[in-house]
Amino acid sequence: MDKKCLITYTSFTGNTEKVALKFKVTFENQGWQCDIFKVRKNADDILRPPFDVRQYDFLCVGSGLRAHLPYNEILNMLRGLIWGFDPRITLGFRDESIPYINEPVPKLTKDPRESHRKIVLGPDSPKAVVFITYGGYEFGAKEAVPAMQLLALEIEHMGFQCIGQFCCPGKYLNDPTPMAFHGDIRDRPNEKDLLKAQMFIEEKLEEIAERKR
Ligand SMILES: Cc1cc2nc3c(=O)[nH]c(=O)nc-3n(C[C@H](O)[C@H](O)[C@H](O)COP(=O)(O)O)c2cc1C
Repeated sequence: MDKKCLITYTSFTGNTEKVALKFKVTFENQGWQCDIFKVRKNADDILRPPFDVRQYDFLCVGSGLRAHLPYNEILNMLRGLIWGFDPRITLGFRDESIPYINEPVPKLTKDPRESHRKIVLGPDSPKAVVFITYGGYEFGAKEAVPAMQLLALEIEHMGFQCIGQFCCPGKYLNDPTPMAFHGDIRDRPNEKDLLKAQMFIEEKLEEIAERKR
């Protein structure tokens, strides 16, 4: 069995990074080769990420939440990978752009009809999971669900079948927030969250090993 995994994530305050690093150690302990790529804030390497996603058997994509959504950096990198052209072209369809990238937006040379084909995912598709850390002050984990679903949909556009979604709270305000859904989350993700992250990956790897038997 091929065992090559890529973990790519955005983390502005380090919470999602803790989960990403726990995932990496867990894959390696299970005998996988695991590359990791952090998408930095306001960096233009999203236009040319230093990996070929098709070389991986397993993909993990993660982010923190801002205003209910994953960070634009990871979404834009995925948009580029999905369509194979500059993500600012796709953003242009929504009258949006990436303000910190100065190089000119290329013209769309591809026929859009070529980009749209039915995708059928099956047992032989490479697998993926998504992960989110969130504050969840109002509704708890429910606040992470739309973001996880969005990331899952994006990676399925890349031909990876999403077989799991993981989320846990991540420190937001430097305040005990006693009225918030989870109460004080200033130490999250904590050891227990990270143990859950480890078990999540271990279970997914068992699942795919069983499917191959
Ligand atoms: C400006 C800002 C906006 C945020 N918006 C949300 C939000 O809409 N929903 C939520 O659950 N958490 C929200 N959070 C909390 C972060 O998602 C949480 O702290 C997360 O763990 C940060 O991940 P990171 O450290 O990997 O960047 C917000 C945090 C900041 C700083």
